[in-house]
Amino acid sequence: MPISANVVLGHGVKIFHPDLVNLYGCTVGDETKIGAFVEVQKNARIGRRCKISSHTFVCEGVTIEDDVFVGHGVMFINDLYPRATEDGHLQTEADWEVVSTLVKRGASVGSGAVILAGVTIGEGALVGAGAVVTHNVPDHTIAKGVPARLGRAVPRKQMSDRPAS
Ligand SMILES: CC(C)(COP(=O)(O)OP(=O)(O)OC[C@H]1O[C@@H](n2cnc3c(N)ncnc32)[C@H](O)[C@@H]1OP(=O)(O)O)[C@@H](O)C(=O)NCCC(=O)NCCS
Repeated sequence: MPISANVVLGHGVKIFHPDLVNLYGCTVGDETKIGAFVEVQKNARIGRRCKISSHTFVCEGVTIEDDVFVGHGVMFINDLYPRATEDGHLQTEADWEVVSTLVKRGASVGSGAVILAGVTIGEGALVGAGAVVTHNVPDHTIAKGVPARLGRAVPRKQMSDRPAS
């Protein structure tokens, strides 16, 4: 059951290979496109007109606003100190807390980036390919490297020109 019945899909959402994704308990906004081998967990929210490229993992607690580009194989994280067991028993949801992450409108996340739990990627910001983002990225700023360091402002011609809605 690759797209669970409890997924809320907006109008015109394009999922190119519905049998090759794993979506459950999440919300996907109008006109968003989702590539193959993408997993989106429960309580994750993806806005309108986003592109989520193949092999990306969007975990519980992640909110992606409108007009966001997410490259291939991007990994979001919601638990900084994960454990399999608690006192010799498999952990349950009661044993840990989801740390939320926000990607603001018009941002882009390059392929292979890892986005640590609890960060905010600013409006129109650009995360470089392969970056490990450990701190917030200000609006319209490039962040790249491991750990990601802030670079220059996103060049004007690369900014999303879509009006806010
Ligand atoms: C980071 C990025 C936006 C370029 O930013 P920029 O500020 O324009 O960087 P420049 O190309 O001017 O390069 C500046 C320096 O950053 C380095 N650099 C570029 N991209 C980098 C990256 N992803 N990680 C680490 N360093 C990077 C360059 O090697 C250069 O270093 P040098 O000065 O030692 O030679 C771009 O390279 C990138 O990674 N974009 C994401 C692409 C992507 O994943 N697309 C997905 C769809 S295919």
